[in-house]
Amino acid sequence: METQMHQDVEKILLTEAQIRERVSEAARWLDARMEGKFPLVVSVLKGSVMFFCDLVRAMKTSVQMDFMTISSYGSGSVSSGNLKLLMDLSSSVEGRDVILVEDIVDSGNTLVKMKELLSGRGAKSLTTIAFLDKPSRRQVDVSADYTCFTVGNEFIVGYGLDYAQKYRDLPYVGVLKREVYEGK
Ligand code: IMP
Ligand code: MG
Repeated sequence: METQMHQDVEKILLTEAQIRERVSEAARWLDARMEGKFPLVVSVLKGSVMFFCDLVRAMKTSVQMDFMTISSYGSGSVSSGNLKLLMDLSSSVEGRDVILVEDIVDSGNTLVKMKELLSGRGAKSLTTIAFLDKPSRRQVDVSADYTCFTVGNEFIVGYGLDYAQKYRDLPYVGVLKREVYEGK
């Protein structure tokens, strides 16, 4: 891995070992909830991909996997609240027990829209799980049913989370140095 990527990180918030432990707790929580079911697990690309892969592998429940790519209108690091569907699911959610896997709940706009979308398509049940929660930045009153870690008002990268499409492949979660996204 490119060393410059590590140098752009101010501090490591979550190590690989901490992530592994918490993800297995999340998997056990989902297993208990999904007993006897064959859930459709939806990964919201691209941010949730690392979490999703580790989570479904840690689960004992047999699952169906599907993917959706969304993006917010506008640019910058602030979500506008208007979702653009870039790639839809390939399966129907009607009558299914759906697990929505998110990378981070920040303003909460994405989670609200995704919940509306999946419920509107007739999911039998909807369970939302987020790897990270950043409650200090919330604009709408929403939270995931299960959250692995709560973070402060800092810009986070790694383990799927990016800045300008970079750093997703970092195996840990870190805070990006301000100088990387300011004054450039
Ligand atoms: P929302 O503001 O809750 O709608 O979050 C929208 C999206 O913004 C998340 O799914 C992430 O992809 C992205 N995001 C929010 N905070 C961060 C962060 O600290 N680092 C990287 N991406 C973030
Ligand atoms: Mg995202």
